[in-house]
Amino acid sequence: MKKKYPLKKNDKKISTSIKKTKKNTDRLLKVNVKTAKGRKISSTNWLRRQLNDPYVKLAKERGYRSRAAFKLLEINEKFCIFKFGDSVIDLGCAPGGWSQVAVEKTNSNLDKLKEKQGRVIGIDLKPILAINGAEIYIFDFLEDNFEKEIGEILNHKVDNILSDMASNSTGHKKSDHLKIMALCESAAFFAFNYLNEGGNFVAKVLAGGAEMELQNLLKKKFKKVINFKPKSSRSDSSEKYVVALKFKKD
Ligand SMILES: C[S@@+](CC[C@H](N)C(=O)[O-])C[C@H]1O[C@@H](n2cnc3c(N)ncnc32)[C@H](O)[C@@H]1O
Repeated sequence: MKKKYPLKKNDKKISTSIKKTKKNTDRLLKVNVKTAKGRKISSTNWLRRQLNDPYVKLAKERGYRSRAAFKLLEINEKFCIFKFGDSVIDLGCAPGGWSQVAVEKTNSNLDKLKEKQGRVIGIDLKPILAINGAEIYIFDFLEDNFEKEIGEILNHKVDNILSDMASNSTGHKKSDHLKIMALCESAAFFAFNYLNEGGNFVAKVLAGGAEMELQNLLKKKFKKVINFKPKSSRSDSSEKYVVALKFKKD
């Protein structure tokens, strides 16, 4: 049986960006999607975008659950946030692409027997299929008792807190921006309580104004704070990631 996961040993050496090789040019050839009776224009557009997205295809080829995996791979390639043995909390983990990357980079599945074993905890509102090396919990991060419950599971602080959380789009830019910033700010306060000294925090934000406030807050608590737009993040999306490195103890 073909082993889809863990990934092949040399996978980490493969660039996370799409290079225009002959194979990829073929891959980039556009798939046309005709409008079908009963299908909304927005669904047709979504389908067309998915079918023509090289990262969707690459994610399938490499056994990742989502194209989002490439965003975290790029972030890690640039800022080296993970090492073997690290513990990670992945907020908003469904369908699991980021958790898969975290498992791979922290060795939480003990794929490399001689290296330290990490720990990956994924949290989402929705259930997901099991991931070897990750503990998955269905929680609403915004529930009042979240910190108490996760505290009981954890029993220790962690090295990396990630948030790719996003609530369903309302279609109203300003409201979406504010909703995501509220999630992100709560994730930042959670990180202040649960990160080890020297730990890292990565969170999705939407450009729109309020992200500067968050950046200023993070700058007081971390040695370095950077806004980063991975190549794999769609260029027509206002999404970017705030990467806060080396948490400072008060
Ligand atoms: C863009 S997806 C994450 C994709 C994921 N990083 C991956 O690589 O597969 C955003 C997720 O955030 C989750 N989410 C939104 N609000 C949440 C909340 N309050 N608590 C937990 N998860 C939440 C959604 O259910 C959704 O699955």
